[in-house]
Amino acid sequence: MSENGHVPSHIAIIMDGNGRWARRRGLLRILGHKEGVESVREITRECAKKNLKQLTLYAFSQENWKRPKREINLLMKLLKEFLIKERKEIEENNIRLTAIGRIDGLPEDIQRELAISIEESKYNTGMVLCLALNYGGRSEIVDAAKDIVKRVKAGKMSLEEITEETFKNFLYTSEMPDPDLLIRTGGEMRVSNFLLWEISYTEIWVTPICWPEFRKEHLEEAIKDYAHRERRFGGLRE
Ligand code: IPE
Ligand code: IPE
Ligand code: MG
Repeated sequence: MSENGHVPSHIAIIMDGNGRWARRRGLLRILGHKEGVESVREITRECAKKNLKQLTLYAFSQENWKRPKREINLLMKLLKEFLIKERKEIEENNIRLTAIGRIDGLPEDIQRELAISIEESKYNTGMVLCLALNYGGRSEIVDAAKDIVKRVKAGKMSLEEITEETFKNFLYTSEMPDPDLLIRTGGEMRVSNFLLWEISYTEIWVTPICWPEFRKEHLEEAIKDYAHRERRFGGLRE
């Protein structure tokens, strides 16, 4: 632990750079995604070992449907394999799996495997592993606004009851704490529509390391950097 000893309890990761990692090696992009699954395994295990409360992984954005069909199909195949293969590991590490995003827009077989993994792990008391799938931060806010309007129209909620706290209850992440630390691999300095509401005061750490080569020493580096940050939330230094 570092000087001021802040330890993040919720880490969110934009797992980027799979394609570039592969291309640099003269490989097909999909092999970068394949290798990326190994990083997901290692980092999940590591975070669970550290007793993190939550790890949220950006696995597929709403905008990723713009990619070639072939790449999308292969990504979905990898996701399905991951869900099936990791059940044992999830159980052994007492992990509770959850998902955020427009889940009903995913292929049916993925929805089915996801539902099984969520159901099987729902009583686990360790780290929450949250997969952002078909996720878009703006859609999340729009969906919340629609639900609120429905309630107001039905007379179940008043205008005065709409506050930052109650709004949060309508987000996909209603049950989750906001991330303390957001990691982006692949070097891009942007949030790409990820957790727009939730990262208002999240500390951001970007590394040029691509996701397939991201290992526990890089995670340590991010956590160490976070420990030295001074989170003021708009206030002044204590
Ligand atoms: C991230 O890697 C994985 C997904 C978005 C699914 P990319 O596929 O975006 O890799 P780069 O950014 O093109 O290198
Ligand atoms: C963000 O990466 C989405 C995921 C990691 C799932 P992208 O590669 O899609 O983001 P952009 O296009 O570089 O902003
Ligand atoms: Mg990318």
